[in-house]
Amino acid sequence: MKKIVIAIDGFSSNGKSTMAKSLAKQIGYIYIDSGAMYRAVTLYCIDNHLFNGDKLDEERLHNDIKNIKIEFHLNKEGLPETYLNGKNVESDIRSMEVSSKVSIVSAIPFVRHAMVALQQEMGKLKGIVMDGRDIGTVVFPQAEMKVFVTADAEIRAQRRFDELRSKGDTQTTYEDVLENLRARDHMDQTRAESPLVKADDAILLDNSYMTIDEQMQWLLEKFKQITTN
Ligand code: DC
Repeated sequence: MKKIVIAIDGFSSNGKSTMAKSLAKQIGYIYIDSGAMYRAVTLYCIDNHLFNGDKLDEERLHNDIKNIKIEFHLNKEGLPETYLNGKNVESDIRSMEVSSKVSIVSAIPFVRHAMVALQQEMGKLKGIVMDGRDIGTVVFPQAEMKVFVTADAEIRAQRRFDELRSKGDTQTTYEDVLENLRARDHMDQTRAESPLVKADDAILLDNSYMTIDEQMQWLLEKFKQITTN
């Protein structure tokens, strides 16, 4: 069967990574979390003191960007984990500190250009599921299958909050999560460079009231339709 590119875009915390990961596993494709790449650059900025509060030293980042090496390596379960300059940062890039600053970093054009080039390189051989915000519009406008995922903000915040609690975060409140999510939605949709928009040819999936199993069925059905046509 011919290999295709699957682009999954949408709002923050709507389960698209879980969905994309599990789809890739079922169909034997490679999964790439493009958000993890912007998170890794953000972690680099935090660790190297490029932030002063919310003010980022863009000039230093511009100088440093060529030295920021982002890779994915499979863990024992066969799932990709993010490495920043050789160090596994899969867990560090999910912190609230990174979440609260990543929109600043991901709005910078030279950061986006560097990440998009890397993403396009990773997708050259097809057989890839990539999730993000601009995958179907900018990174792979020719992708054979495009899905745009959405869900109510409160439902997304509750899911994210439950996830943080299950990982042992007892500090962050539901309100913090909802506020961060709304701020990110706003920044993602209004930034000048590659704002979050649904590609005209993307299929819409609102998963507010869908179970993970129902979503998988839905996705596999679409995949089958597209690859057998
Ligand atoms: O999917 P995520 O929440 O891990 O993404 C983190 C941030 O990166 C999010 O605020 C938007 C940004 N992002 C982006 O601008 N373009 C992408 N392709 C993926 C993520």
